[in-house]
Amino acid sequence: MEVRETLQLRSFAEYKEAYQKSVENPEEFWDAIAEKFYWHKKWDKTLEWDFTKPEVKWFQGGKLNITENCLDRHLDKLGNKTAIIWEPNNPDEESRHITYRQLFVKVSRFANVLKNNGIKKGDRVCIYMPMIPELAIAMLACARIGAIHSIVFAGFSSSAIASRINDSSCKMLITANEVYRGSKPVKLKEMCDEALKNTPTVQTVIVYRRTVEPTPMTPGRDKFWFEELQKAEKECPAEVMDAEDVLFILYTSGSTGKPKGMVHTIGGYMVYTTYTFANVFQCDHFAPTGVKNQSKPKSDVYWCTADIGWITGHSYIVYGPLAAGVTTVMFEGVPSYPDYGRFWEICDKLDVTHFYTAPTAIRALAKQSLDLVNKHDLNSLKVLGSVGEPINDEAWHWYNDNIGKGNSPIVDTWWQTETGGIMISPLAGITPTRPTFATLPLPGIQPVLMDEEGKEIPFKSQKSEGRLAIKYPWPSMARTIYGDHQRYKDVYFSAYDKMYFTGDGAYRDATGNYRITGRVDDVVIVSGHNLGTAPIENAINEHLSVAESAIVGFPHDIKGTALYAYVTLHENQIGDDELRAKIREQVSNTIGPIAKPDKVQFVEGLPKTRSGKIMRRILRKIASKDTSNLGDTSTLLNPDVVKDIMENAL
Ligand code: PRX
Repeated sequence: MEVRETLQLRSFAEYKEAYQKSVENPEEFWDAIAEKFYWHKKWDKTLEWDFTKPEVKWFQGGKLNITENCLDRHLDKLGNKTAIIWEPNNPDEESRHITYRQLFVKVSRFANVLKNNGIKKGDRVCIYMPMIPELAIAMLACARIGAIHSIVFAGFSSSAIASRINDSSCKMLITANEVYRGSKPVKLKEMCDEALKNTPTVQTVIVYRRTVEPTPMTPGRDKFWFEELQKAEKECPAEVMDAEDVLFILYTSGSTGKPKGMVHTIGGYMVYTTYTFANVFQCDHFAPTGVKNQSKPKSDVYWCTADIGWITGHSYIVYGPLAAGVTTVMFEGVPSYPDYGRFWEICDKLDVTHFYTAPTAIRALAKQSLDLVNKHDLNSLKVLGSVGEPINDEAWHWYNDNIGKGNSPIVDTWWQTETGGIMISPLAGITPTRPTFATLPLPGIQPVLMDEEGKEIPFKSQKSEGRLAIKYPWPSMARTIYGDHQRYKDVYFSAYDKMYFTGDGAYRDATGNYRITGRVDDVVIVSGHNLGTAPIENAINEHLSVAESAIVGFPHDIKGTALYAYVTLHENQIGDDELRAKIREQVSNTIGPIAKPDKVQFVEGLPKTRSGKIMRRILRKIASKDTSNLGDTSTLLNPDVVKDIMENAL
């Protein structure tokens, strides 16, 4: 029996039993799960923790290497199974299918390239690569030899690369010469060269040649991937690591300008991401009861559309799925190229069974003609996923009806870079789903709602709303912020006594289902009332003409702060005064007159980061007529919309 299968819960009753056990006897619960993995030496102590320091250690004394769990142990039974299917940006280019055995060889060989270039256990390696299999190979190769990877999303600017490299003193940078994303080539190596002017710790740059274009190389420092591979041995025994050794650093934005390097350690991260992957997605297990997929008894094909540069890609494109022995898809391109049907074309072509994406993508795709969906056969799909932000009702139903055809559970997975793995989510086909709700906590997760006075709101089978905190450690939680433990303590462990504070608000229904209402740091105070922007946006998005919206505060003589709504409309809808009035009325009816936006601006698009997050900072500035210093907008997904929004500002 494969490891994944031994981890999977099979019914709602089994989930409830596991959950209860995980709360009553967490150490015994996690021991039994961790035992399903390959360790060189078993741990001496399951958990040691103190949230006041804060300090958390899982599986202390355990010795392992995560790549042996992702690769070596599958070779006997799954060696010829496809580990990664790579789908290129250009649909005319061929996909690549890499088996577990091939991946094992590639990782081992590249691990020797790292060693040959002076990388040792504990060294930091920055990876700035597009979505190509070599990105996964590079990260696994680091893990193989105990080096710490720090992946920087290959859409960040050169100054962002440099600050991240310097924050953790990376010794090496791995990149690609360039990449096609959509119709535009992106010159990654040039971005790196700019960054490298200010990164004294980098001694070597390994460059993967993704295109045939000439690449500027600095002699002595820059080396081509293929040339280095030719010099490398094929076999590379895995470095035996401690469970609490660092696996990777991943930067996430904070309330200040300086990004936080979240530190994840090996043992707990491996156990938790694999366990949650197996249970949330139920690959190769869950079959819907309807008509689908009956004629295709092939093993599942799981596709998460995130970029590996984000935590979603780390945990649920690479480590979780590979440790579970599943086939994982990597897509190089964008949902709109060559047209907005690309995602559905890939699902059809690869017989994707599990599709995991972000609400922002769903909303963008829902704006397009349904013909782009309906011309593809989506019959292979069994499970749909959502991550990264609250999914509004309209998007949820569009996804459910048009992509899942009402027959594929949607797992709305709430979690964070800091949590390492999914915290609150349905288990596909096992626990109930509910539109816009992330539903129930996973086994091992003890969420609590906190009131305005900082007291826990006990669960007494009644609806409640508050700030979301977690009161017990889980294996994949970040252990610190690289080089700044005090900041880790201040940001996450100071709001409430002996609790991890998530920064999110949540609503809990009478049966204990959670709905994440959005960041509480996006709260706007209007006339002394706390208003979350997310619920107002949800109310606006309910209007049939509306595709998406963003609410920010702007200074107001009487109210202190008033609300400004930026609204994008579905195709062929007209943004006029009548619609403005209807939107304001809708908010008034759903939340109350206090939440009515003073201004409603119809815009072509909302400025977004490459990960799809709305850049409220820019919108706030425009709403406040303070456009002198908008900051660097060039790293946005859609920098052009900013000009349009400014020109038509109210
Ligand atoms: O506000 C929550 C939102 O995204 C935040 C974490 O962002 P990041 O660290 O970039 O990780 C994103 C991918 C895990 C959370 O604090 N968020 C994430 N998932 C959901 C969500 N909000 C609502 N529903 C979700 N499913």
